[in-house]
Amino acid sequence: MLNPDELRLAYLNFFAKRRHVVLPSTSLVPENDPTTLFTGSGMQPLLPYLLGQPHPLGTRLANSQKCFRSQDIEDVGDNRHTTFFEMLGNWSLGDYSKQDQLGWFFEFLTSILNLDPRRLYATVYGGSAQFGIARDAETAQIWQALFRQKNITAQIVDDHSQDVWQGDSTGRIVYYDANWWSRAGAPKVMPAGEPGGPDSEVFYDFGLEGGDHAQSVWQDQACHPNCDCGRFLEIGNSVFMEYQKQADGSFIKLPKQNIDFGGGFERLLAASEDNPDVFATQLFLPIIKVLEQLSGVEYKPELVSADVGSQNPMPTRAMRIIADHVKATVMLAADGVYPGNKDREYFARRLVRRAIRYAHQLGIKDHFIAKLVPVIGQIYHVAYPDVLQKQDQIAQILEREEKKFALALERGLEQIAKVSKLDEEIAFDLYQTHGFPFELSREIAKEKGVELNKIVFEQIRSKQRAESRQKSAGVFKGGLAEAGEQATKYHTVTHLLHQALRQEFGESIRQMGSNITAERLRFDFAFDRTLTSAEKAKITQLINGWIGADLPVTGQNMSKEQALSQGALAFFNEKYPAEVSVFTIGTNPNKDWVSKELCGGSHVKRTGELKPVVIFKDKAVGVGVRRLYLREQS
Ligand code: SER
Repeated sequence: MLNPDELRLAYLNFFAKRRHVVLPSTSLVPENDPTTLFTGSGMQPLLPYLLGQPHPLGTRLANSQKCFRSQDIEDVGDNRHTTFFEMLGNWSLGDYSKQDQLGWFFEFLTSILNLDPRRLYATVYGGSAQFGIARDAETAQIWQALFRQKNITAQIVDDHSQDVWQGDSTGRIVYYDANWWSRAGAPKVMPAGEPGGPDSEVFYDFGLEGGDHAQSVWQDQACHPNCDCGRFLEIGNSVFMEYQKQADGSFIKLPKQNIDFGGGFERLLAASEDNPDVFATQLFLPIIKVLEQLSGVEYKPELVSADVGSQNPMPTRAMRIIADHVKATVMLAADGVYPGNKDREYFARRLVRRAIRYAHQLGIKDHFIAKLVPVIGQIYHVAYPDVLQKQDQIAQILEREEKKFALALERGLEQIAKVSKLDEEIAFDLYQTHGFPFELSREIAKEKGVELNKIVFEQIRSKQRAESRQKSAGVFKGGLAEAGEQATKYHTVTHLLHQALRQEFGESIRQMGSNITAERLRFDFAFDRTLTSAEKAKITQLINGWIGADLPVTGQNMSKEQALSQGALAFFNEKYPAEVSVFTIGTNPNKDWVSKELCGGSHVKRTGELKPVVIFKDKAVGVGVRRLYLREQS
């Protein structure tokens, strides 16, 4: 059996032998890509090359990429989800065929990892009538031929998620309509300009009759490769990155037919050990061992799905959450992201605070995070030696963060114990007084059978913010009462500015940050040069035109999918609640709109309430980021 470092190396060598250039992992913080907060897949740093730009190192690339998926935070606790993971990737930039790529991956699995091919299942794109994209019969046939080489007669079948699983005879190669990959998700929700394509996923079956886990909880369950129960583990995904979404919603073929393969390193390791629990591999076990010592509780792998797990904060789930979250925090810190209040930093803070809360549940009394830092450094000392090198600094800063919150947690939990019902007002109070992230309160409430709503929480928060701004705006020339209103106005102008920039410079423009006071608004976006005066005039003209048109501003609550399919702007990798609020500026929220964004804040009712604005300052902040300042014309 290969240890983690051997497996990573075996993979990279395998593809190097097939003339791939092996790239180093990039940082968890994407460079030059404002559309997303973290590197969430191996393809992300390669986006320009998948879109057609020639890569200086050629058309065959491979690497092991550090990834962080913030949207998976609440899924951690089952046998396989983690927020930090490594993705083993290989890419063909218009070079080799599907046949080559699938054949190599199958060979790697069966000859290098020595996986039993009878444990492998493949899923294939079922096609879309709406977008005129056919089912991927070619891929299904390639799989069938590969299995045949191993003397396995593999049936190709339609999605049978409704059937009772009857093993191999039910089908080994399965069509699913959901087999499509892009950073944003399904074809429908992809924004214009985004590349994507049909994919083919490989699953490892831990429940094969006669296997070690055959008598497990999976027996006789209605199950299939894409089922969430934990029996089948996705270990690799070949994306045929061949399409790009257009502004009119249709798809065109990219200049080059690319392949983007990504395999979960932790999961491949678990499959190679025939153990369905990634936390039982050497990538996590050393952390779990320390948690066992600190808590006196024994780690027992439970083969339950996340859904069952979230109802019951059992020790296994708590240990997995702590191990995952502390590891992710340490890896983020090594890439320069420390817990704080904004964007990326706030995710790091949420991870630490959630880990502390679960440690509290496990009965860990002492500070524990600093003790885990060298353990994590050791796990990665070959692949990412910088973690060990920076361990003292990382431990010191994380310990400070832990001390700050550990005390607040005690007090907050006491407060919760006293109230009869934990609602959004109380969640806001816990946030303000004790620094409880909303998600933490929501999780505690859920354990008590109460659902908290993020939108309600955000409304309380923005109301409170506007009030405190009014209180502190004594110097504002319009007087105290108007300061909050003015901030609301600038907030609506921010949406108009975002849209005007996209109209002038293209749909790829994304807001990177903003800041509003009663006297001006500040706006950051990725852009690598000064704006000409003609461009500034054009942008101002667009905004002031919309203000002059007195357009209605409509807030609507809807499902996240619906919002994205209507083209609402959002950060890709951010976890939004299922129900989001969307602000549309335009004569009709369903058509003829000027701007549409996911947003929890408050806005004016009509753009006619706004006064014409000017851009009064424009400067660079850091490399490739432009900052604009706007205020009302005097
Ligand atoms: N980009 C694809 C994924 O993340 C394959 O690398 O699954």
